[in-house]
Amino acid sequence: MRLQRPYWSRLAALVLSGSSLWSGLAWAADEAVLRPRVPIDKIEEARTWTNPFPSTEDNIEKGKALFHGKAFCVTCHGRDGKGLGDIEGLRGKLPRNFTDKVWQAARTDGELLWILKNGSPGTDMASFVPLILTEEEAWQVLLYVRSFGRP
Ligand code: HEC
Repeated sequence: MRLQRPYWSRLAALVLSGSSLWSGLAWAADEAVLRPRVPIDKIEEARTWTNPFPSTEDNIEKGKALFHGKAFCVTCHGRDGKGLGDIEGLRGKLPRNFTDKVWQAARTDGELLWILKNGSPGTDMASFVPLILTEEEAWQVLLYVRSFGRP
């Protein structure tokens, strides 16, 4: 019985320090997520690329089929686009949460296409064009990715 008190107070201290660590990490994660992924010497050009497809229901549906089908984006980014955190063997960075409106606003369509062509260096986000997707299909998938950012 005499041992119980120090045990609980130590536990409380642990929980408290844990929660402040978490809020610190959450803030750091936001900053880290918003940092541009396209290398500085490529970003100016990438930002000039624009999606040739209008955001119609039909084109978004085509993108959705690719997202769930041959491009298997869903296996990491999830059905709800929020990004799965429990994938085994993921190196460091979590798959992006596409419902994050601040992130959506921080990226141009051209930057996202650059990522689909080149991947995000040093992460599990691989390159999909041209091996798995044509450039046209990549633009359609991106219309679907953008649709997660809308209410
Ligand atoms: C193997 C898991 C995996 C698959 C499959 C995958 N992604 Fe990702 N994706 C990631 C990870 C991890 C990140 C975060 C990379 C980073 O933080 O730089 C990411 C980031 C992204 C980003 C954000 C890049 C940015 O500028 O912030 C986009 C857009 C994206 N993925 C689209 C897709 C699309 C579209 C597909 C399917 C064609 C796909 N991803 C398939 C793991 C995956």
